[in-house]
Amino acid sequence: MSTGTSINLKVEKTKNSKLSQIDFNNLPFGQTFSDHMFVCDYKDGKWQTPQIIPYQNISLDPAAKIFHYGQSVFEGMKAYKDDQDQIWLFRPLENQKRINISSERLAMPAFPKNYFMEGLETLLKIDKEWIPQTPGSSLYIRPFIFATGVGFHASPADEYKFIIACAPSGPYFSGNVKVLIEEKYSRSANGGVGFAKAGGNYAGQFYPTELAVKKGYHQVIWTDDNTHEYIEEAGAMNIFVRIGDTLITSPTSDRILDGVTRKSILDIAKDENIPVEVRKFTVTELVEASKNGTLKEMFGAGTAAVVSPISLFGHKGENYELPEIENSYASRFKKRITDIQYNRAEDKFGWRYLV
Ligand code: COI
Repeated sequence: MSTGTSINLKVEKTKNSKLSQIDFNNLPFGQTFSDHMFVCDYKDGKWQTPQIIPYQNISLDPAAKIFHYGQSVFEGMKAYKDDQDQIWLFRPLENQKRINISSERLAMPAFPKNYFMEGLETLLKIDKEWIPQTPGSSLYIRPFIFATGVGFHASPADEYKFIIACAPSGPYFSGNVKVLIEEKYSRSANGGVGFAKAGGNYAGQFYPTELAVKKGYHQVIWTDDNTHEYIEEAGAMNIFVRIGDTLITSPTSDRILDGVTRKSILDIAKDENIPVEVRKFTVTELVEASKNGTLKEMFGAGTAAVVSPISLFGHKGENYELPEIENSYASRFKKRITDIQYNRAEDKFGWRYLV
């Protein structure tokens, strides 16, 4: 059926909902998927009729360029449900804009804003019952675009698929996070694709992260590819540190993802009169601050990670523990952000978006 939306969205609903099989009190991150997905194909130089269909496998030609040249970008968003059963998103237009910034860098076509927003909102209304209300849980939303056009010639594909899939999810990390500051491998380089949410940026991290996991860490903190001295970002989140009372984070660049949670924290910090420095900072500075007791906090920030406190960092064979702090910046930011996301508090920034 057609929904009568301005984008002429076609909807086919499932006859076999999987909802009753889901244990909403025990949700891993991103492992089970809601009943429907939003799909749109790019062909003959334009995006074709968008559709919502039952969540299902897709069939691709083995020569599809996604398999050979990795043309693929994605986004991470969440939907929240409040006590009155209303559905909320958090700054969705930031994700809508960013997926097109990522696509451009990978020579992929932009996805129209009205398709993105109407497709997403209709999908959330249809799969509303999939949005968890258990504390700390939400419906994780994964919009992504990849090359379906075929050919072994190393050039951009002529056909693409855009999908939004959703996964009711619990927290990304189960507790405090231990990180290893990387001194050999690199995530990105000047002029590269580090700022884009390209699938390959994450694949490239898996091997060094596996090595770190074997040593007992959860994530790698990436440093600049030239000197391995400057802290950039972690595997699935931007990084903040607190030295004394000052909150410090690296400036975004063509090597660092412009995180939505990162920029929200900077606005909240300003609102709370917390001294902030957006500047380059070094591993040496962190190690010294840890030794002289001025390093108070380190935390990651991202859609999946929300605000995740770091309890320890490793560097050159040494581990440095972070102190436990009452009323930490991390806990304050997490509360302010999640209270806005779940519609529990005033939203003076206008970030909450009613579906
Ligand atoms: C997100 O925070 O949504 C991300 O896309 C990070 C991903 C590695 C889970």
